[in-house]
Amino acid sequence: MSISSQRFARLLKQALNTIKAREDKNLEIIQDELGHALGRKNGSAVRYWRKGHIPADPEDVYLLSQALAARGGLTQHQVEQFLRCTDYPNAAHQVAAQICEHEKDVVQERSVLLELQPFVVGPPITDPRQFYGRSRELERIFNNWQGVPLQNIALVGPRRSGKTSLLHYVRHITTTPTHRLRDGQRADWLKEPQQYRWAVVDFQDPRLVKPQFLLPHLLRELGFPVPTPCIIETFMEVMIDHLERPTIILMDELAAALAAPELDMAFWYSLRALVNSYANGRLAFLLTSHTPPFEIAADVGKPSPFFNMFNLVELGPFAMDEARELTNSSPLPFATEDVEWIIKHSGSWPVLVQLFCNERLLSLEKGQSDDSWQQAALHHAKPYAYLLE
Ligand SMILES: Nc1ncnc2c1ncn2[C@@H]1O[C@H](COP(=O)(O)OP(=O)(O)OP(=O)(O)O)[C@@H](O)[C@H]1O
Ligand SMILES: [Mg+2]
Repeated sequence: MSISSQRFARLLKQALNTIKAREDKNLEIIQDELGHALGRKNGSAVRYWRKGHIPADPEDVYLLSQALAARGGLTQHQVEQFLRCTDYPNAAHQVAAQICEHEKDVVQERSVLLELQPFVVGPPITDPRQFYGRSRELERIFNNWQGVPLQNIALVGPRRSGKTSLLHYVRHITTTPTHRLRDGQRADWLKEPQQYRWAVVDFQDPRLVKPQFLLPHLLRELGFPVPTPCIIETFMEVMIDHLERPTIILMDELAAALAAPELDMAFWYSLRALVNSYANGRLAFLLTSHTPPFEIAADVGKPSPFFNMFNLVELGPFAMDEARELTNSSPLPFATEDVEWIIKHSGSWPVLVQLFCNERLLSLEKGQSDDSWQQAALHHAKPYAYLLE
């Protein structure tokens, strides 16, 4: 056995044993679960690799290190060593950082676990446990990504309707373990979620409307190598070379991107060419905006045919039962008439349900028995009056 194979076998065994100790599970079960995560029927490939046979396909190496890292079996440094002893073709350091990014989120999430607010008023929801409803919209979105060609989605809704929250949820829900969800929260929207690659772009970040930042950002998010120089031509080449797995790029606040002079017509044409000519149906975009993309694009003088390829998913208020579920999640239960008041006056818009629930909870915590919380709630809701018109 070569030194690389020995090192590979040692790291893999060590990772399996770490997972075994963390999860208190039998090694056979862990190997089967890893096999499933890599799209196989059982763990026989993992058993074979454990004996020092380095996987021939770099894709298997990538997925294996991702699965081991996600379960705490490998640290970022170990992922890098793991990739190096397999002669992984791409920059091991960068790929390891990308693979472990999710693990960092998990650690961060653990550290804030105790501080989760019962109601979130203002910022987008980023923890899936605080996300409610939207089952019809999720169904429509994930239906577009069940098979090839993956289809493009424009998530369109007024300000504060919940677009960014839904975008984050779509990105994370299919790979969030059950113990980090509420009871009964659905996560099985995709058949093989581990196969999908994701990138998120927030165009409100002023750096990301400049190609010199945006293009490497996209490649890093997707775990692809970043060429030097990273310009649209080299970006396209890397994308074309790496689009074997389903790849979804989520872009928040399209209007900000369209307003940016650096993201010109040529840029949007390149994305269209990638989707239509090179991706074999394995690349799709989800954009958020206040009005349909082709309308904003035409308004700002960038009427690219890229924007004609989107299926609209419109975001309105919660369904009644979804608004009730959020209202009933209060740590101090609300009286039925309070729940009804909240549903009626919020029009079931998530931001208003959150705001009104928060006011009610604060008043209960202070032991107030009058209805002054309703006056406060209506006062704070004034900036959102447009949602109720
Ligand atoms: N599915 C949801 N579950 C619970 N709360 C939600 C949900 N969607 C939105 N909200 C609440 O609504 C508020 C606005 O959400 P978000 O920021 O996602 O909206 P947006 O449409 O992206 O707004 P903007 O147009 O200003 O960017 C958040 O404070 C959040 O708490
Ligand atoms: Mg937003």
